[in-house]
Amino acid sequence: MKKYGVNELRKMFLDFMESKGHLVMKSFSLVPQGDKSLLLINAGMAPLKPYFTGAEKPPRTRVTTCQKCIRTGDIENVGKTARHGTFFEMLGNFSFGDYFKKEAIHWSWEFLTEVVGLDANRLYPSIYLDDNEAFDIWNKEVGIPAERIFRFGKEDNFWEHGAGPCGPCSEIYYDRGEKYGCGKPGCTVGCDCDRYMEVWNNVFTQFENDGNGNYTTLKQKNIDTGMGLERLAVVVQDVDSIFDVDTICALRNLVCEIAHKEYEKNYADDVSIRLITDHIRSATFMISDGIMPTNEVAAMFSAV
Ligand code: ALA
Repeated sequence: MKKYGVNELRKMFLDFMESKGHLVMKSFSLVPQGDKSLLLINAGMAPLKPYFTGAEKPPRTRVTTCQKCIRTGDIENVGKTARHGTFFEMLGNFSFGDYFKKEAIHWSWEFLTEVVGLDANRLYPSIYLDDNEAFDIWNKEVGIPAERIFRFGKEDNFWEHGAGPCGPCSEIYYDRGEKYGCGKPGCTVGCDCDRYMEVWNNVFTQFENDGNGNYTTLKQKNIDTGMGLERLAVVVQDVDSIFDVDTICALRNLVCEIAHKEYEKNYADDVSIRLITDHIRSATFMISDGIMPTNEVAAMFSAV
């Protein structure tokens, strides 16, 4: 498999989705507009919520983006796992009442196996517990044997973040091999370690959560997908972590140079180097979107 760079992968995804009739839109700001349920944009779908609910008309019923995201909820994992960062870019294709499960699943498989060239034998889909429609698409149409399709519950395979559009999902994991695993008995798809890396999430957005756990069925069936660009680069480039992919590695090396530290000399330093690298990315993109840091408590509260 060719070891594509981050910038190549981003373009390959957007071009592929454009060839499937999607309108390529620019990343939205990290600052949510008109959405009081979020402090920061945390997924490709977040700035598009009104299109999922039907409250606003989208410029096209098929849209694709590479969205800047910040997930503060993952902050405790950053630097310690291979796959977490507070800042990441999310590749996504979206359908607003247009195509649904069938196309979304087929295109995710086509992109990963035919365009990027990942080994199909290392890919494992997961589905929401009783989503037999998704199971049949994976099994009968894509041809994945039943024992390679994992069924997970709400915690793993139902996507929602606070209030808004949500639904059951089908993820795709990539087996990076034993060398990245925890080695514990029973380590398989869904294990917390870094062997089976979740690269793609197909969300079948059919419901709206009012923020208090009350679900209503949306007027239209939608698709919301998300693939972490840095994670995809990890599996394509076969490197240890997101801090080793071509673009982020350049920043990590600069952090080492300024701190007079060598990477991979001791674990504690490495965690710090990864944390600083991650936080520089987050801080830079937040500042560029107009979120200014301050050390004055009064200023912080007046901004809320
Ligand atoms: N919204 C989904 C996610 O962030 C695709 O995983």
